[in-house]
Amino acid sequence: MIDELVRRLSSARSVCVLTGSGISAESGLPTFRGVGGLWRTHRVEQLASPAGFERDPVLVWTWYNERRAAHGQASPSAAHRALAALEPRYPDFTLATQNVDSLHLRAGSKNVVELHGNLREARCTGCGATYSLERGMPLERIEHECGGRFRPQIVWFGEALPQREWTLAADAAMRAEVMLVIGTSAMVHPAASLATRYARDAWIAEVNPEATAISDAVDLSLRATASEILSDVVARLGA
Ligand code: APR
Repeated sequence: MIDELVRRLSSARSVCVLTGSGISAESGLPTFRGVGGLWRTHRVEQLASPAGFERDPVLVWTWYNERRAAHGQASPSAAHRALAALEPRYPDFTLATQNVDSLHLRAGSKNVVELHGNLREARCTGCGATYSLERGMPLERIEHECGGRFRPQIVWFGEALPQREWTLAADAAMRAEVMLVIGTSAMVHPAASLATRYARDAWIAEVNPEATAISDAVDLSLRATASEILSDVVARLGA
């Protein structure tokens, strides 16, 4: 099974990767929909939506401060590191992630496209001022003196993805000879459509211990964890 993945990656020039929260599960961060997932204990619309933020910005920031703190305590997994080791092998390598935990960047990946934003800084809805989230968002500083409000630089449900990031990811998927889909349930669009609609000419492999919404549509669906597969692939490619 993995032989074909190694063979395809050894001859490819253009690779596109899409990751989801599953690749950070091995860093100790909860996924959204799996067992113990964040959406099991919180209601999506209350937290990750413009309406939820409007209704209770303190609740929303309390939740993001907790997640931001967890990101700070987490370390890149063997899978994050394997992707960083793979990247220099290819003249054209794009890592599109749905994750906001910055772990791909901390692992050393360079060409990372953060489709859903990140938790490194907040931005004022009024004047665009930014605030570093290195130590979280002080709840007493959410309201900005300009009359605006600091919000996380996260793409919420119902919001469009940032145009630049989406275009970079969609173009990379369309160019890709090999597309890897790692640790995502592939339920959230348009990110999931990178594999199903944009990577028309690519050979697509998925790495996920469970079946997903796109398992039947990809060329190879590996039922394993990201670290197991990617560490093996890197070892066999001699990356
Ligand atoms: N290795 C690989 N995959 C794993 C691992 C692992 N060790 N552990 C869990 N997974 C898989 C799960 O089987 C699941 O299919 O990771 C996937 C996580 O899916 P979700 O929890 O739905 O997370 P994700 O796909 O990233 O969600 C997409 O939805 O909530 C929004 O904006 C949020 O970016 C998020 C988007």
